[in-house]
Amino acid sequence: MISLPGDKSISHRYAMLAGVAQGRSTIANYSTGADCQSTLGCMAALGVQIERDDEGRVVIQGGALSEPREMLDAGNSGSTIRMLSGILVAQPFTTQIGGDASLSRRPMARIIKPLSEMGAAIEAREGTYPPLKICGRALHGIDYTLPVASAQVKSCILFAGLFAQGDTVVREPVRTRDHTEIALREFGADIASEKRVITLRAGARLSGRELYVPGDLSSACFFLVAALMAQEADLVIQGVGLNPTRSALLDFLISMGASIKALDLQQVGGELIGNLRVRTSRLAGGVIEGAMTAALIDEIPALAVLGAASRDGLVVRDAAELRVKESDRIAAIEANFEQMGLKIETQPDGFRVPGGQAFHAAEIDSGGDHRIAMAFAVAALAADGPSAIEGAESAGVSFPEFFDTLRQIAK
Ligand code: S3P
Repeated sequence: MISLPGDKSISHRYAMLAGVAQGRSTIANYSTGADCQSTLGCMAALGVQIERDDEGRVVIQGGALSEPREMLDAGNSGSTIRMLSGILVAQPFTTQIGGDASLSRRPMARIIKPLSEMGAAIEAREGTYPPLKICGRALHGIDYTLPVASAQVKSCILFAGLFAQGDTVVREPVRTRDHTEIALREFGADIASEKRVITLRAGARLSGRELYVPGDLSSACFFLVAALMAQEADLVIQGVGLNPTRSALLDFLISMGASIKALDLQQVGGELIGNLRVRTSRLAGGVIEGAMTAALIDEIPALAVLGAASRDGLVVRDAAELRVKESDRIAAIEANFEQMGLKIETQPDGFRVPGGQAFHAAEIDSGGDHRIAMAFAVAALAADGPSAIEGAESAGVSFPEFFDTLRQIAK
């Protein structure tokens, strides 16, 4: 039996909303990952009082933000810079926000465009790359159709909408994770969501809450894959977030033939939580495309590994977004597959992995990308000897306890 750190996506949202809500919030099981610490660091630099109580909960005293003395550091975290920008554009001061080398290569035009339409003033390197200089302005609501499926962009616009005159409407091409909509409702906003159209009513007054963050399903994915590929595994992962906009992962694995059961389901703060029981399974193969790609985008590195071990392999399409994540994940998967003697054919927006392949011990390069480090640690378990992972510590971006947890189950 294992349990996982709190969900990264939900932790970011709770910390940001608690910072701008009136009064005190407590957040239990807040993500231990470096990304979510970056969010807390930014909120603290914006004058928000943040403490830990005796039970390890994050306690946030929210209210008005104040001008930071230095550039905010989002570290490696795209969620931090993109979502927090939605709040920063409405403040009565100027903020600069940047991050590490990987973050400095990630596109921000996708948030700059809608925020500018709302009245924001944002400068970026070459019009898109961090660091960003954000001059607070009075904002007005917009009706915006997202050109790319992105929960971060949706959230950024909705956060700006909290401070705007008039309602804000976001239309999604395909459904993306809805933690922001759920969290906004929890904090007291008037928000409706129907058929991929989200409407936030102007004039929301958010107030502090007691919150609980479910275990991270994207982190659970590495252990699901490890257990499915093992000789003889029967593993229970406790208290995992099973929000339907994230749990397409389970449907996909089950469609490949995986033995996975979700048990003891309950709702906490609008989010579904349960225990997952997974057993070694013989897997067919699968195709990930269209809306499914958006729903599984963070899990694709681990699924690529599983695909190579499955009977029929894995095809991934419509996944150009993978090239602008913490690394170019299609290139990183390809390079490490080649190292392990695994076949893969890549395209600009996807790849095809044949099934039934043997994994060879290798020198893996994570490229500083947490999900590549963890996916190939799982691949290394199936190899014919010991492998080394360069930059393995990057797992700490989302899951500092990853290798300890893996050691616990790999005995
Ligand atoms: C996230 C949304 C996704 C995902 C990221 C977390 C979120 O990014 O890849 O890890 O918390 O909203 P995009 O919005 O860029 O698709």
